[in-house]
Amino acid sequence: MEPFVRTVQITNYKSISRCRVDLGPLTFLVGPNGSGKSNFLDALRFVADSLNTTLEQSLRDRGGIQSVRRRSRGHPTHFGICVDVNLPDGRGGAYSFKVGAERDGAFVVQREECRVSRADGFDDFFVVEEGKVQQASQSIPAALERDRLALVAISGLPEFRLVYESLRRMAFYNLNPERIRDLQEPDSGQMLARGGKNLAAVIRELGRFGGGHLARAFRGQLVPTEAELARRECRDYEPASVLVGRIQTERARTRDGGPVPRRRRRQERRADR
Ligand SMILES: Nc1ncnc2c1ncn2[C@@H]1O[C@H](COP(=O)(O)OP(=O)(O)OP(=O)(O)O)[C@@H](O)[C@H]1O
Ligand SMILES: [Mg+2]
Repeated sequence: MEPFVRTVQITNYKSISRCRVDLGPLTFLVGPNGSGKSNFLDALRFVADSLNTTLEQSLRDRGGIQSVRRRSRGHPTHFGICVDVNLPDGRGGAYSFKVGAERDGAFVVQREECRVSRADGFDDFFVVEEGKVQQASQSIPAALERDRLALVAISGLPEFRLVYESLRRMAFYNLNPERIRDLQEPDSGQMLARGGKNLAAVIRELGRFGGGHLARAFRGQLVPTEAELARRECRDYEPASVLVGRIQTERARTRDGGPVPRRRRRQERRADR
């Protein structure tokens, strides 16, 4: 079985100066106390947290950028995380960002890059620096900001949706055998607690489902769609068909020598008269 996260590269995150770790379906991190095992996992959790909330929130939860970037004699002012992933639909993806500290606890996303392989051998990708698109496989119709992760805004594009959803759904547990062994409070077993105290209930619950059901859960098909969530939260929602139409129009408009949208052609003809 292929792991979801294939490789993790970290620079200047907490006590970790630089590391590259290839993960298997089961990987053991072994090292003395204080050697950075929890910091390594926290870097991955940081990616999920930042995509689920905001970079600012995720840094604040960890004591601010001064606590997250590595304290050392050389005073590095940035940290970076890069993950290579196997997406559930078989495509490969890579996502990385580098965050730099500014004055008074402020920060900026110095560089963010996302790349997803395509069946035809080309990649869908974007590179954003300080809120500005530097390179992209397509036009990016999203408002970006220098202190936010662009992938959150760009996840509306179908090409990058799965990498976003998969990364933000990464979950981390710190199983505590003592708590697992304890007598349990009654529990529905639908969500594993971080320390694993309701593990028995979760295993009982999983027994009710066949493999197909679990596979659909893994692909995110059992959770509310964005349309449903938007309706519940009274937010605007742009259905995929409208979004794709908008992207195609935008692409056609910017492509060299490409067809100009009919409405613009009409306007130009009128202007010529
Ligand atoms: N921003 C930072 N810069 C430098 N070092 C840091 C920073 N934040 C935390 N540390 C150091 O990281 C170390 C703790 O690392 P971590 O908790 O990952 O260890 P561990 O391998 O999980 O240990 P244990 O086996 O005890 O769980 C501490 O020495 C702490 O001082
Ligand atoms: Mg630890």
